Amino acid sequence: MRLDKLLGNNGFGTRKDVKQLVRKGIVRVNGATEKDPGAHVDPEIDIVDVLGERVIHQEFIYLMMNKPPGVISATEDKWDQTVIDLLDEDAQRFEPFPVGRLDKDTEGLLIITNDGKITHELLSPKKDIPKTYYAKIDGVVTEDDKKAFAEGVTLEDGFHTKPGILNILVSDTISEIELTITEGKFHQVKRMFEAVEKTVVYLKRLSMGELELDDSLELGHYRELTMDELEKLDPRKKG
Ligand code: URA
Repeated sequence: MRLDKLLGNNGFGTRKDVKQLVRKGIVRVNGATEKDPGAHVDPEIDIVDVLGERVIHQEFIYLMMNKPPGVISATEDKWDQTVIDLLDEDAQRFEPFPVGRLDKDTEGLLIITNDGKITHELLSPKKDIPKTYYAKIDGVVTEDDKKAFAEGVTLEDGFHTKPGILNILVSDTISEIELTITEGKFHQVKRMFEAVEKTVVYLKRLSMGELELDDSLELGHYRELTMDELEKLDPRKKG
């Protein structure tokens, strides 16, 4: 990759800043001063330093966000703020994107990364990655709903879902539930409840695979995944 890109991607300033750094003659590649910002370097092999400070190359970023309502799960949007707009410049430099979508009004666990391979694995229908949601439902959720979800329900477009595990926390005029599903159809949780004639009034994702939302993260806040969390999340690590 280009030397200025490597420096820019690793916290040494904007593309313009790093070009100046290089031209000043304070950047070395394998011990030799390099004044060409466009010089080709291999971050896996070449040792690059700026005024003696070694440049550590980070290619990927893996973030966990507690998505707030009112924000779109996309990289850009004409009208609304996106989850990427909530990231600081250091994180945005990696050009990350959300792994799948939560609806605008849905809160909770959202993974944001620039690793296309892990994204593909996590979203692949073949992998059956479980996702657990907490929801408030307008209507009394019953054991019959639990049985219906366990067999899969037919959505309004005729699609029959895979089984979902429904855990009823409160059964009342406004019920509270947790639902685990392995698919990710558009508005799936809301449509599954519509199939049993009830309405989701609040929805929050709690977990994806073995990765749980850090409940100390406030709405709209995010942090990098730990190594342990990344291993839990990455289906490739499980063969
Ligand atoms: N199911 C929904 O209905 N909405 C979401 O945001 C996620 C799952």
